[in-house]
Amino acid sequence: MTQKIEGHHENVTLKLFVDSATRVARAGGALYNVPSQQDKIVVVTGANSGTGRETTRRLAGAGAHVIMAVRSQEKGDAAREEILAQQPDARLEVHLLDLADLSSVKSFAETLANEKRPLHLLVNNAGVMAPPKRFETVDGFELQFGTNFLGPFALTLRLLPLLLATDGSRVTTMSSTVAAMGRIRFNDPQRRRHYSPYPAYAQSKLADLLFAQELASIANRRNWDLISNAAHPGFTRTNLISAGASLGRDRPRRQWTSEAKFLPSQGVEQGSEPLLYAAASPEAVSGVYYGPSRYFGLVGPTTIARVPRSARKPHLGERLWKLAEQLTDVELPDAT
Ligand SMILES: NC(=O)c1ccc[n+]([C@@H]2O[C@H](COP(=O)([O-])OP(=O)(O)OC[C@H]3O[C@@H](n4cnc5c(N)ncnc54)[C@H](OP(=O)(O)O)[C@@H]3O)[C@@H](O)[C@H]2O)c1
Repeated sequence: MTQKIEGHHENVTLKLFVDSATRVARAGGALYNVPSQQDKIVVVTGANSGTGRETTRRLAGAGAHVIMAVRSQEKGDAAREEILAQQPDARLEVHLLDLADLSSVKSFAETLANEKRPLHLLVNNAGVMAPPKRFETVDGFELQFGTNFLGPFALTLRLLPLLLATDGSRVTTMSSTVAAMGRIRFNDPQRRRHYSPYPAYAQSKLADLLFAQELASIANRRNWDLISNAAHPGFTRTNLISAGASLGRDRPRRQWTSEAKFLPSQGVEQGSEPLLYAAASPEAVSGVYYGPSRYFGLVGPTTIARVPRSARKPHLGERLWKLAEQLTDVELPDAT
C-alpha cells in the first residue's frame, strides 16, 4: 500500500510517496535493527546519557566510529566504558563539547576540521529542559534557546564543510512533541522580560524542528548531497527532567515529576528509535520528522510524525535562521 505524506515547509512542500512499510522501523516488538554503519564517522551530542548514549551504543554496534560529544569528560568516559563492557569492539572516542558555550563549539569543530577525517553524520541530540529559573549560557543566551538550538545551529554550520565533503552525509536533530506548543518570540527570544520554564523549552524545541527543515530546504536548493531531518522520542524515561541547570556540574538528580507518571512512557531503547531511524535508515527522507506512533506520539514504533502547525508558518524557518546567524555570528560557508 502506498501512502501520500505531506511535510510542509515554508517555500517548499515536500510531497512524498512513502511506502507504508517504511513507516514502521520495527515490527513484532523487536528493536529497530540499525543498518550497517561500517566505515562511517559520526558525532553524537549528549552521548553520555539517555537517547544520546543509546544512539551511540546502537550506531557503534552497527559499525560506526562514534565521536561522543559531551560536556563532562568524566561522564563521557563512564558512558564509553559502559558501552565497551557490552560491546568490546565498539569504536568510541570522547570529545568535550559544551553547547552552552560558543567558544567550545568552535574549538570542537576546529579540532575535527584539523583532523581531516570525513564526517558522515551529526546527531544533534543534547538538550536541557525547563530549569525552574532563568539561566544563561556563557554567551548570555537563555539556557534552553542557547543549548538546545543556538549551540547546535553553530555546531552544524561549523561542521558543514566536513559533512559536505562526504558523500551522502546527514544531520539529524532532536525536537519534541512540545514543539507544537512553541512560539518563537522574536521580540524577546532570550525570555528576558518574562521567563516561564516550559514555554521557553517549547520555543527551543520548535526552533530545532524549524532548523532541521530549513537546512533540508537549503540543501535542496543548493543541490547538496546532504539529508537533514528531525526526530522526537515521545515520552522517554531519561534524566532530562533534572538535567536542566546543572551545566555539567554534579548535583543530585530529581526523579520523575508527579504529573509525568500518569502519562504513557517508554524505555530509552525504544525512545531512541525515531532518532536512530532518522539518522541511519536508507529510507529516511530529508525534511521529514520522525517520532513514535502511539498515544499521540508519546510511545510506540517509529512513524513519520506530523509537523505541528507552529512549524508550518510561512518564512518562519528563514527568519529564525537569520536570527541564529546574527546571534551566533556563524554563517553558511562561502563556497557552498
Ligand atoms: N526524554 C524525553 O521524553 C524527551 C522528550 C522530548 C525531547 N527530548 C529530547 O531528547 C534529547 C535527549 O534528552 P534525554 O531525554 O536523553 O535526556 P538526558 O538523559 O538528560 O540527556 C541529555 C544530554 O544532553 C547533554 N547536555 C545538556 N546540556 C549540554 C551542554 N551544554 N553541552 C553538551 N551537552 C549537554 C547532557 O549532558 P549531562 O549528562 O552532562 O547533563 C546529556 O548527555 C534532548 O534534546 C531532549 O530535549 C527528550
